[in-house]
Amino acid sequence: MQTHSTVASLRAALDAERKAGKRIAFVPTMGNLHEGHITLMRGAFQHGECIVSSIFVNRLQFGPKDDFDRYPRTFEADCARLVDAGVHHLFAPDENELYPTPQKYIVEPDPFLQSTLEGEFRPGHFHGVATVVLKLFNIVQPHAALFGKKDYQQFMVLSNMVRELNLRIDVVPGETVRATDGLALSSRNGYLSEKERAEAPHLYRLLVAMRDKILAGARDYEDLQAEAMAELVSRGWAPQYIAVRRRSDLKSPTAHDSGLVILAAAFLGTTRLIDNLEV
Ligand code: PAF
Repeated sequence: MQTHSTVASLRAALDAERKAGKRIAFVPTMGNLHEGHITLMRGAFQHGECIVSSIFVNRLQFGPKDDFDRYPRTFEADCARLVDAGVHHLFAPDENELYPTPQKYIVEPDPFLQSTLEGEFRPGHFHGVATVVLKLFNIVQPHAALFGKKDYQQFMVLSNMVRELNLRIDVVPGETVRATDGLALSSRNGYLSEKERAEAPHLYRLLVAMRDKILAGARDYEDLQAEAMAELVSRGWAPQYIAVRRRSDLKSPTAHDSGLVILAAAFLGTTRLIDNLEV
């Protein structure tokens, strides 16, 4: 694996790969790689012969109260995992390389998509994500890019960006990878104490229970959401939202809509966990 810390070095290497006729498949990350990321890297081989990943903890997508400073940085271990996964090029710029001057041109996603759910509780988050991903896309110029469905709303923001801005990139979803007890893998799981880690899979169990009720005919989504929030509170969580939405646009469904997804975000202690489940 070649590691590049500058845009110029990565571009030169990828120009050579393209000249050799290779298609580039790209998996952007913020590091602290786990099996969820590695599954995306493996999936990338179905979309290209040259696999590129990036590690960059993007300050622009963190709010003032978010965990930018304590976000886990595990560069050496990440590199070892990427080598194992067969990744060809890693782009690992510092902040000065990616943002040499303050970023004044910002991608503003769809106003609804960037203000609902995650957007409501993390204002500015999606413009930070969309802006850095557009920059990375322009640097890497991939044929395909892969993003995990655990960040369901992020996937939608980015695939809509690619469509509306006519980027020639296939945006490919990767299924959420879970621990054997159901907890969705996330870099933030490392913040959990032993006791919290034992409680954490309850979020997924709750989503499964809600899905089963909907599949059995429940259509009182407001009640289902309120019950689930109350259950989490009674177990010591601080939920931010548990919402049944339409998969197509993340709007609230009517009783006749099908193709739904249940999305949730909740604090367990000081750790914010998110998860979702399609119905
Ligand atoms: O999902 C992530 O890790 C980040 O939001 C991304 C897409 C790498 C942009 O910084």
